[in-house]
Amino acid sequence: MKTEILRILQESGDEFISGQRLCEMLGVTRQAVWKNIRQLKEYGYEIESVSNRGYRLVARPDKLYTPEIQGFLEPESFCKRVECYDTIDSTNLRAKQLAETGEPEGTLVVADKQTAGRGRRGRDWSSEPGVDIYMSYVLRPDLPPSQVSGITLLTALAACKAIRNVCGVQAEIKWPNDVIIDGKKICGILTEMSSEIQFVHYAVTGIGINANRKEFADSIKDKATSLYLQTGKPVDRARLTAEFANCFGGYYHRYLQDGNLSAFVEEYNGILANFNREVCVYHGMVEDVAGEDVSHGIARGIDKDGSLLVEIDGKIQAVMSGEVSVRGVYGYV
Ligand code: BTN
Repeated sequence: MKTEILRILQESGDEFISGQRLCEMLGVTRQAVWKNIRQLKEYGYEIESVSNRGYRLVARPDKLYTPEIQGFLEPESFCKRVECYDTIDSTNLRAKQLAETGEPEGTLVVADKQTAGRGRRGRDWSSEPGVDIYMSYVLRPDLPPSQVSGITLLTALAACKAIRNVCGVQAEIKWPNDVIIDGKKICGILTEMSSEIQFVHYAVTGIGINANRKEFADSIKDKATSLYLQTGKPVDRARLTAEFANCFGGYYHRYLQDGNLSAFVEEYNGILANFNREVCVYHGMVEDVAGEDVSHGIARGIDKDGSLLVEIDGKIQAVMSGEVSVRGVYGYV
């Protein structure tokens, strides 16, 4: 009921809405409305109540809170359930635990802070409470395991679309799935799965968005940025979380239907930061190490399998994520 109350109060803007009207709209008693309003206030919502006029939302806490995120979901959103934590070890770990115990797909685990956030290739993903977004979707894709990596590319597309819709900036993708603005990383994606040779039990796609961070450690400030630093405005994290959840569903369903990424190639290449740029392809996946296992070429976009087409010595070679790592000749992109 809190989701509906918040939605109604938000839609009413500066206008008061009477307790009676809320009861009618929600089909509940005055006492139920009052109890839920009190709980919202306890959670940090500033709700003005004036006798004979009703209720008005004055301020919202900057927290990731299930009823608030749900309030921004589309009625037919792929996201069926939102589980929010103030602090958790890792939303990917929690989503995997849920999946192991039968959770249906479409559940989104969200956290304000992670104490053991995980990045790709065993790296850490740092966390600062109350400013960024950490979330993971439980998925049960009917795909062969070899195609699960495509979900990572879709996740990047969904993140770019959600950022554009909510923040009005166009992010780009550094193949396969780093979302960047101004050549710096704004969002990282980690997709994990449990499978047999031919069958996927479940997959989890986890995404960390640098939302309202005001500064980064010296060691990463040349490579990382936040939506706040890029736009100069704080981002509504609950809205962006829900928008990502909504956008992801559309891409995911189409991918399951087609079994390949052909429907997204144009859109993806349109925001591919490496497009037509010189890249180094590290065949051993080890970046920054100059050696014999590095080829130089020009990135020509992705194909329907999500491989990057790289022109090397006049010939196009499809390189697959997971087998190679790609960096710009002069830096990260
Ligand atoms: C990367 O290395 O770029 C991927 C980073 C992925 C981080 C996100 S934050 C939410 C989810 N939970 C995790 O522990 N990791 C992912």
